[in-house]
Amino acid sequence: MCGIIGYTGHRPALPVVLEGLRHLEYRGYDSAGVGYVLQKKLHRVRAKGKLHNLEDALTNLGAAITVSCAIGHTRWATHGIPEERNAHPHFSNDGTLALVHNGIIENYQELKAELVQKGYGFESDTDTEVLINLISFCRQSEPSLLAAFAKALSLAHGAYAVCMLDCEAPQTLYAARMQAPLLVGKGVGEYFIASDIPAFLASTRDVLFLEDGEIVVASPNTCSLYTLTDIVHPLKREVQTIQWGIQAAQKGGYRHFMLKEIFEQPTVIQDCLSGRIKADNHIDLPELASMPLPKQIHIVACGTSYHAGLWGQHILENLAHIPVTTEIASEFRYKERFLIPQDDLVLVISQSGETADTLAALRTAKEHSIPTLALCNVLGSSLAREADRVCYTQAGPEISVASTKAMTSQMLLLTCLALFFGEKKGVLDPLQQKHLLATLKTLPITLANELPTMHEKAKFLARKYAQAKSFFFLGRGHCFSLALEGALKLKELSYIHAEGYACGEMKHGPIALIDPHFPSLVLALDDAFYPKITSNVVEIQSRQGRVIAITNPGTDIAVDDRWEIPKVLDPLSAFCVLPCLQLFSYEMADYLGKDVDQPRNLAKSVTVE
Ligand code: AGP
Repeated sequence: MCGIIGYTGHRPALPVVLEGLRHLEYRGYDSAGVGYVLQKKLHRVRAKGKLHNLEDALTNLGAAITVSCAIGHTRWATHGIPEERNAHPHFSNDGTLALVHNGIIENYQELKAELVQKGYGFESDTDTEVLINLISFCRQSEPSLLAAFAKALSLAHGAYAVCMLDCEAPQTLYAARMQAPLLVGKGVGEYFIASDIPAFLASTRDVLFLEDGEIVVASPNTCSLYTLTDIVHPLKREVQTIQWGIQAAQKGGYRHFMLKEIFEQPTVIQDCLSGRIKADNHIDLPELASMPLPKQIHIVACGTSYHAGLWGQHILENLAHIPVTTEIASEFRYKERFLIPQDDLVLVISQSGETADTLAALRTAKEHSIPTLALCNVLGSSLAREADRVCYTQAGPEISVASTKAMTSQMLLLTCLALFFGEKKGVLDPLQQKHLLATLKTLPITLANELPTMHEKAKFLARKYAQAKSFFFLGRGHCFSLALEGALKLKELSYIHAEGYACGEMKHGPIALIDPHFPSLVLALDDAFYPKITSNVVEIQSRQGRVIAITNPGTDIAVDDRWEIPKVLDPLSAFCVLPCLQLFSYEMADYLGKDVDQPRNLAKSVTVE
């Protein structure tokens, strides 16, 4: 997610804005920029890469040091690769308006086409430049800039947090939010507009929180709040005082980034699906428009992304009737004989887009002229640039080393792929498609409602089982890949040995390990495998093995600890199982005093072999 800071007050604005951007760096970004008005003319300085590149470009401020109103932005690319021309702020064609933006305007292509028809030109690939020119266009017919601002935003569909400058009102900031964070910092004779509290916490702890659909007009001594539909009657809003320190504020008040990212998953589901489920209830993946249907798909990834791929294999085969293999990248890249035919597809999955083994696997596929597709979270990453095609998971920056929300977004994108290919192949059952899409749309609210309860249960179970030296995670069908992921999470976070296994495999050897000190977490959902799972559990219990069962209300499985989660249409039930596994490992690691966000020996992106 991008970082936004706007300042209007009595101090030199550019140092304040740069300081604010520094406190937003933790969110991850690939370019940055500032904008301001000097002698009634808009100016901007933008730089690709890290903030010091922008600071270097701003060393000789000259007369700009006198400027006391400015906007700043760190960009996490969603539309348009990380280049200076795509960095914010973006200007209107007539050079009078500047905008910084966080979020995704879903209908920006249609809006852009209409503006091009009206003679507007665009220098960037961003949805942001479309929005600022839409505001400029609306200004021609609206009685005020505020009215044009509100009108344009009402035409934009999707998530946005924006802050705008007008060269004719150099001390005034216009801002608005819709499904993306934005708030106001209130100082003495100064106001801040930011996407996150750390941006101005060093200057003020007094905050006005904004709601979706609200607009702010701020100048050094005044700040008015309106709604998109009423720009006449200002809203009343209580100032709240933040008690957090900077560190806590960067985590949004959560103890760790990992916990914050687990709780971001409902929003991630929304963002990942944004623009991909069309009004006529079909999946739209324009990135794949001209791609021929593959005869077979070979998924290649590492770690958690590999587990997402295994889960994806299940749904791709079942919905699109396409044979799928899933391989670990470090094995795939050293195949002695490469037998993949050229009408297949190699699908690489990577949050960072920089994992060396996955990159090597992609290059091997390309050397053999096999079509490649990357599912990535980082725009402009090596994998995204080198694959023939790329679909972005749009999960926002994932700070914690342990991958959580990225896996959810990967599985969502794999679900979209399965529906997209299934429909293209004409094998998708319309009723099943309808139910799956309906469930996808309700997932964010289902998960948002359930996460606090899941967290409390995870806390209780982590403390009850904290002395375990080893754990089994067991599942069948699509839950087998989730069992593998649950084991990986416990290993990498709490350093407790854990093994993920297909439940049916226990009798082929692993059950020899069961004893009262070797508990099992079993995925026992109310599905076709449930009868088999219950008999596997009896086998474990007859050897004094303790069992936690993640199950649904109404099942009768008798175990040491039942963990009930809402029943969700399979295999989308995975989106309620996965957070339980993440929270269980998180709470175990936190209880055992481990370094949750930076586990020992691990890196966020394994860029070496
Ligand atoms: C996940 O919790 C791990 N940190 C690790 O397994 C990770 O998933 C793996 O290194 C792959 O990373 P990538 O998705 O960035 O390629």
